[in-house]
Amino acid sequence: MLESKPRFNTLLSTTAQAHPWLFLFLFATLISLFLFSYRIFSHPLSRIPGPLLAKCSSIWLHYQVYVGNECTAIRQLHEKYGPVVRIAPNEVDIADGDAIAPVYGARTDLVKSPCYSKFTLDGHTTVFATLTSPGRAGRLKAVTSLFSQTSVRESKTAMDECVAEFVARLKTEASTQRPVDILNLAEAFATDVTTASLFGIQHKYGAMAEKVTPFSASGYLDDFLAVGRFFYLPYPLWVVLERITAVVFPDKKRLSSVRAVDRYCEGVVGSVDVKGGSHSTFQGRLLNQGLPESKTAVECKDSIFAGGYFVGVVIARIFWFLVQNPERYATLRKELLEANSAGNDTNAQSLPYLQHVVKEGLRLAMPSPARLPRIVSEHGLTVQGHFIPPGTNVGLGALQLHLNPEVFPAPDMFLPERWENATAEMKRDWVPFGMGVRSCIGRVFSVAAISEALKAVVDTDLLGGAVAVQDTIAVKQWTISKLTDGRIMMVWPQASQAKQECV
Ligand code: HEM
Repeated sequence: MLESKPRFNTLLSTTAQAHPWLFLFLFATLISLFLFSYRIFSHPLSRIPGPLLAKCSSIWLHYQVYVGNECTAIRQLHEKYGPVVRIAPNEVDIADGDAIAPVYGARTDLVKSPCYSKFTLDGHTTVFATLTSPGRAGRLKAVTSLFSQTSVRESKTAMDECVAEFVARLKTEASTQRPVDILNLAEAFATDVTTASLFGIQHKYGAMAEKVTPFSASGYLDDFLAVGRFFYLPYPLWVVLERITAVVFPDKKRLSSVRAVDRYCEGVVGSVDVKGGSHSTFQGRLLNQGLPESKTAVECKDSIFAGGYFVGVVIARIFWFLVQNPERYATLRKELLEANSAGNDTNAQSLPYLQHVVKEGLRLAMPSPARLPRIVSEHGLTVQGHFIPPGTNVGLGALQLHLNPEVFPAPDMFLPERWENATAEMKRDWVPFGMGVRSCIGRVFSVAAISEALKAVVDTDLLGGAVAVQDTIAVKQWTISKLTDGRIMMVWPQASQAKQECV
């Protein structure tokens, strides 16, 4: 009788029983090989250039984000592969200002990527975290006019009071001749000016009056920034990671800061008499629109972050740029002194060089340097001759645009005068407040607050005597970037001795 050969499936089940781990390993290898080959050769994005690892797996991107190097790593890819690069199996980064309109413009139907759900606060999807445009329309309509030029003018008393307090505090701290953390001070100012202008002067947070470093809300600001490290992880995995991190690395100071901000917001919202018609404030308008108290409090909390962190970090970095570039500081001070002596209207926004300094500061400080991801709609998208299919996660980032030497020659240098004759490309590619329909609602208010604070400090000539402790400011390049040091230190006369102590 002929001996029959073992059949293939019999062989498989025998191997699986005898060597289960080997079997699993071989099986996983086979599946991975199949998946990688599909992603490299047959995936609809297979013709978009990019490194092999990024085409096969999103691990490359997660790693770059985790270490805070996303923008620099992607910039190197653009130098190698051109303006359209595949940075993960289903993700594309674009470095071409011409693509701003099709990706973010009013006539596009791309929506925010689900990554933004991580900015959901206390279970409430804030305006910022809402993915689709219609989803936030009612809330946006209720508060948008509060951020207009007219409203900013009307809240001038609040702004002036905060600016005066900021200058006084900076003077006092500088006079101690000890190193001063100007980031903490600028964030405290920004928190106060935002809350006083939006929630009413009687609800000013009072961060500057605390006279401490760090002030009580700064742990909350840091907590919010931490989202960036795992921004692209799937939401359920991110939630699990968050919970584990909270248990394994409990941070009591941060938690008590978050609680302090929660209590403050509850107070701000609880003080509104909706029936009494108190609707001129941010919280009053949202309540009047029917948003429950708890959700209104969360929108207030979100605004404290946007105002306190974004505005604060830009002010502190502009101060640092000016201290590092004394000739630019001298030009700025000369402009202000001439305007003062001519008795001109010295409204900060009417000083051209000061406005160039603010623009250039925002270009280099760009608190949101990374890609602002959107999902390509059912119609697909064509950029630079590449068809990007529906469902792709796509976007442009400020860092790629702001540091493009073809648009901004010597891009790493702080050169406010480059804005004197700004080209159409410079105007198009300057995007610190985001792009298109989902761009920042706080833009006018923020520029006003930054400009007024800058003007007042230059008026005192405080920056003229300052020395920056750090020679460079390293940044974790997250969706909302975080300064690696978490502080920007400056010293005043007898600086060299103090600087040595600080370093
Ligand atoms: C220097 C200051 C600021 C900068 C650089 C900045 C930057 C940005 C950026 C880049 C976006 C777009 C995000 C995206 O498309 O994914 C954005 C959106 C937004 N910002 Fe700001 N921001 C600043 C100040 C503020 C302030 C003071 C507020 C309010 C108090 C604010 C509230 C918002 C809101 C609500 C959105 C979402 C708008 C929408 O989705 O329709 N921002 N901001």
